[in-house]
Amino acid sequence: AFATQSSRFPDLITGDDYNNVSESIAAKVGVNLHRQPNHPLNIIKTKIATYFDDLHAKGHPKMQLFDNLSPVVSVDDCFDQMLIPKDHVSRKPTDTYYLNPTTLLRTHTSCHEVPMLRKGIKNFLVAGDVYRRDEIDASHYPVFHQMEGLRFFPELDPATPYDDRVEHVQAHLKTTLEGMVESIFGKVEMRWVDAYFPFTEPSFELEIFFEGEWLEVLGCGVLRREIAENAGVVNEVGWAFGLGLERLAMVLFDIPDIRLFWSQDPRFLTQFQDGVITKFKPYSKYPPCYKDVSFWLGPDFHENNLYEVVRDIAGDMVEKVEVVDAFVHPKTQRESKCFRITYRHHDRNLTNEEVDAIQLVVRENLVQQLGVELR
Ligand code: PHE
Repeated sequence: AFATQSSRFPDLITGDDYNNVSESIAAKVGVNLHRQPNHPLNIIKTKIATYFDDLHAKGHPKMQLFDNLSPVVSVDDCFDQMLIPKDHVSRKPTDTYYLNPTTLLRTHTSCHEVPMLRKGIKNFLVAGDVYRRDEIDASHYPVFHQMEGLRFFPELDPATPYDDRVEHVQAHLKTTLEGMVESIFGKVEMRWVDAYFPFTEPSFELEIFFEGEWLEVLGCGVLRREIAENAGVVNEVGWAFGLGLERLAMVLFDIPDIRLFWSQDPRFLTQFQDGVITKFKPYSKYPPCYKDVSFWLGPDFHENNLYEVVRDIAGDMVEKVEVVDAFVHPKTQRESKCFRITYRHHDRNLTNEEVDAIQLVVRENLVQQLGVELR
């Protein structure tokens, strides 16, 4: 059974003024879906690790897998060392869960790159849960899982101009990741798209053409020299990639809603088996229940705060929150919004009374926590 209480990380709710980790988020820390036997996230993680093990068998360096690193990391490792600008949105407490001003729940597995390099580990994979405050719909959830890979090329002659070595590493990166995607999806059409990440140069995204549409599967690039040097790796060039496990799993297993990964329903869990990729067979989908709430926005209103309030109260019963109406009062210039909340439980029927009771608590909390004025 899954842990419902976070026993490994008792101190996520610190009482610090800057602390914005909610109970519902704290309860997810330490669950480690990516390590649960027969879970789709574990299946994909293992498939990727196996691809790199097969390369190792053909003479490439071993990419050791770390899938149990703590998601509680420093702002320094997560952002500063990765050259993420001080004013970048991802640093804002509306977007990220902080324990205190210097410690947070990792927003990407790239936070482990510098600490690993400092330990002298230069070829590795990391899989882990990452946390981002975000909107609510079928493909967004405040906890998801990423897999990261890093590889350095000490064999390249430091006398070779840096740009030529970058060229070589970039070509190697692309071939390696194309092979990885093929090992997951079979023969598919792929394309490389130029991208930007503060920590790699050049940077790319890989897209695949799958079931009629182009789908972004990963971000990658050549790790910036400055980052490597700060981590004690001088005059060596290396590549890095990162990908979202849910996104891949949703496509591969035909899983229609990201909340399903957290389901403890045997009708979900028993469908998957380590080492096999099968299409998910939806069991009866229970009917949705819609509730609207309209209010005048307070001065510091941010939609992510509303999503957090709703999630904290409704948990996985909330499927989607969307703006259905917005207007600015012509005289007072006050802004009003109407949000539609879709409630639906995957494993059972929700009664209208039950949802009304939840909605009432949501309304009260919007007033108390966000200072909005209901209409
Ligand atoms: N950390 C990036 C993300 O979360 C992905 C990435 C990893 C990109 C490594 C480049 C290199 O989107």
